[in-house]
Amino acid sequence: MTIRAGSSYGAAAAALALVLASVAAVAGEVFFQEKFEDGWESRWVKSDWKRDENMAGEWNHTSGKWNGVPEDKGIQTSEDYRFYAISAEYPEFSNKDKTLVLQFSVKHEQKLDCGGGYVKLIGGDVDQKKFGGDTPYSIMFGPDICGYSTKKVHTILTKNDKNHLIKKDVPCETDQLSHVYTLIIRADATYTILIDNVEKQSGSIYEHWDILPPKQIKDPEAKKPEDWDDKEYIPDPEDQKPEGYDDIPKEISDPEAKKPEDWDDEEDGEWTAPTIPNPEYKGPWKQKKIKNPNYQGKWKAPMIDNPDFKDDPYIYAFDSLKYIGIELWQVKSGTLFDNILIADDPELAKTFAEETWGKHKDVCSSPSISIMAILLLTEHALTLVIVAG
Ligand SMILES: *[C@@H]1O[C@H](CO)[C@@H](O)[C@H](O)[C@H]1NC(C)=O
Repeated sequence: MTIRAGSSYGAAAAALALVLASVAAVAGEVFFQEKFEDGWESRWVKSDWKRDENMAGEWNHTSGKWNGVPEDKGIQTSEDYRFYAISAEYPEFSNKDKTLVLQFSVKHEQKLDCGGGYVKLIGGDVDQKKFGGDTPYSIMFGPDICGYSTKKVHTILTKNDKNHLIKKDVPCETDQLSHVYTLIIRADATYTILIDNVEKQSGSIYEHWDILPPKQIKDPEAKKPEDWDDKEYIPDPEDQKPEGYDDIPKEISDPEAKKPEDWDDEEDGEWTAPTIPNPEYKGPWKQKKIKNPNYQGKWKAPMIDNPDFKDDPYIYAFDSLKYIGIELWQVKSGTLFDNILIADDPELAKTFAEETWGKHKDVCSSPSISIMAILLLTEHALTLVIVAG
């Protein structure tokens, strides 16, 4: 359609095109969405990983001990000291030349002290019954807590069979409430990590991961020139030792001291005044230092283009994304996942978070918060009873 400016038809068409464009901008594509409503079990495959060893934990379809809406269920780890592995398939796609948004909510009701709360996106063909810790993945994203040292949002990108951890420290939430974790990966090789729709980290995939060798390196051939002056301060040639400086004694005899009245030279020997530190004495002479006018700064090898660097314009992209998997080890169970979204539009993900977690969060902060407090108190009381007993 050609839009002829000036004609009323053209103006109307232009307006329509605008409306369509804005609708298209909001619409976005959803590759996978899971709210764990009825029928979720037909979409998810529980893996038999670790089942032989009796170490495979069961998932509980529940809204948990405290929740905004009892009917709003997710899946929760329900046994301590267990491995968990579950996955769902969706139509295979690639995020080449697209924005990728991965989002989910997670709640650690158990006051997680060691365990993961992350999800994985997996490509290729996977026997979902065997999905486990060794299954190669493309992206791993979400919180991980262990002791005092590990409290972070993992963001691992797998390229050429190598897992690359983000180099930035992105702290995760550590309380017992639901939080939404969002990872956005864009076709310009930038990314953003959000928690509860608030940006926590963003930047370039080139810079915040070591996926490719660095673009530039220090020139290994470069050497510091012989005459490079890297002394910031030098002795002041103007500052000369005053004459007689070295003759000033460290100690002098006390001019205030007096020979005691009852001093007997014959019995006590000849009286000498005790010595005291000489106030004139200033220690060994040191030449003053001044800024070196010829200082050239610390020598640094110049940067050159790294011969080993080969750009990968698809550093951010994965050819195949086909499954989402949750694979965890949990010392203490109680982690609840919900509202998973894989899409191409951050705005859509934001709205989805607001309409799920956002709504229930508000419900939860009014009447249900007291239920949570009571439950927490109960747990606390139990601990006290056990300790007292
Ligand atoms: C599932 O979760 C509910 C709510 O927290 C709990 O009452 C129930 O005992 C759990 N079931 C299992 C099998 O853990």
